[in-house]
Amino acid sequence: MKILIIGSGGREHAILRRLALDTPIPELHAAPGNPGIAQLATCHDVPVSDLDAQVRLAEELQPDLVVIGPEAPLVAGAADRLREAGFAVFGPSASAAHLEGSKSWAKEVMAAAGVPTAASVTVTALSQLEAGLDRVNPLRDVPFVVKADGLAAGKGVVVTEDRRAAVAHAEEVLAAGGSVVLEEFLDGPEVSLFCVSDGTRVVPLAPAQDFKRALDDDEGPNTGGMGAYSPLPWAPEGLVEDVLATVARPTIAELAARGIPFVGVLYCGLALTSRGLRVIEFNARFGDPETQVVLERLTSPLAPLLLAAARGELAEDTELTWSEDSAVTVVLAAAGYPVAVRTGDPISGIDAAEALGTHVIHAGTGVEGDTLVSAGGRVLSVVATGEDLETVRALALAGAEAISLEGSHHRTDIARQAAADARAGSTGTGAAAAAADTDTDTDTDTDTDTDTVTEDRA
Ligand code: AMP
Ligand code: GLY
Repeated sequence: MKILIIGSGGREHAILRRLALDTPIPELHAAPGNPGIAQLATCHDVPVSDLDAQVRLAEELQPDLVVIGPEAPLVAGAADRLREAGFAVFGPSASAAHLEGSKSWAKEVMAAAGVPTAASVTVTALSQLEAGLDRVNPLRDVPFVVKADGLAAGKGVVVTEDRRAAVAHAEEVLAAGGSVVLEEFLDGPEVSLFCVSDGTRVVPLAPAQDFKRALDDDEGPNTGGMGAYSPLPWAPEGLVEDVLATVARPTIAELAARGIPFVGVLYCGLALTSRGLRVIEFNARFGDPETQVVLERLTSPLAPLLLAAARGELAEDTELTWSEDSAVTVVLAAAGYPVAVRTGDPISGIDAAEALGTHVIHAGTGVEGDTLVSAGGRVLSVVATGEDLETVRALALAGAEAISLEGSHHRTDIARQAAADARAGSTGTGAAAAAADTDTDTDTDTDTDTDTVTEDRA
């Protein structure tokens, strides 16, 4: 089987790494790929944003399957273009990817499908702002959540206890011509669950947890994700079934009923709140860096799953098999990430990291002359696997520390709490306790963040 994957990040490298383990090994192509991907696939110099060139490349290569990794080409209609040209494509149409491209539309779909999510108000004019904030946070006792509606329309998500900062972010988005989604604050730990769909049927992968803030202990600004682990030893029993029944299946069915079949990964970003499961966001693709740990644990072949979804032939009773090992990834980010990213710094020590028993996924790398250099905000993603979560997280961390990249930073607490809780043989405290306690109505978690955070997935 010949597969072409569109993208150049860690997610695409991780997908290709898993595809390369299938038997027989598929013939792998990437556009544009990156230096890590080039070790597994033939890279073609076609930018992620150039849909015409992607179609031309596919016509030349005649792949059996095209997999589109990032959200931008999906929202721009890459899947539609490639499907019109006759290819089997894993990735939603522009209309279906609107689920990620517009937070207000996603809210509307969730409301119609009866999917639990944060209460929200969409605001299109300054005059509606104060009343909107009062509606989603009437007691002013929790942080305000203010989101730009579109992918590129504004500066993302701000979660803050400072009402003036909330207003300022909303004003900025409105002034730029965007609309604003104001949301009820959701407490409790977050879970990412990827659900593969062929437009009607849904097959879940394994849940993971992502670490969104730049710094240890969930300090600092929001990022695209600084690390992840899977499985979640603290996850309540039946979590995946719950998400399927209350979130993924109703959403896919709602879209199908609207004539917008969703083919690809419905990324369910969830909060396990003290009042139950809530959707924080949908994405229309695999998550990054969660893919690095989720696919690491998948022991069934990946290509047939993606191809069946692309062809509309997914069997609902598909039983995927998973390693019981834990996988942890620690992201090495460039100097200044996520605020003012510096690129072009030389990278060394990947061999040393891998000699420890990790493997290193390329997320934002390039080559200058003979030198591997940083070329993006999140540069590398160091992955470790093994039986014991504490050992595995220490190994991933040691791998990240073996790599030299001037000015780089990484978190040291990825999976730390979960590992400590697992060792203590309990669901533990903090986030994990809140997760296990999904059916009580007494929310005593007042440990909320007070920072102003700005999302930046660069
Ligand atoms: P999003 O892009 O919608 O996933 O938001 C980015 C991050 O902001 C999420 O992963 C959460 O950590 C945080 N966040 C978003 N919405 C909420 C909410 N309603 N309540 C609490 N935190 C939120
Ligand atoms: N790690 C979060 C995302 O992929 O959106």
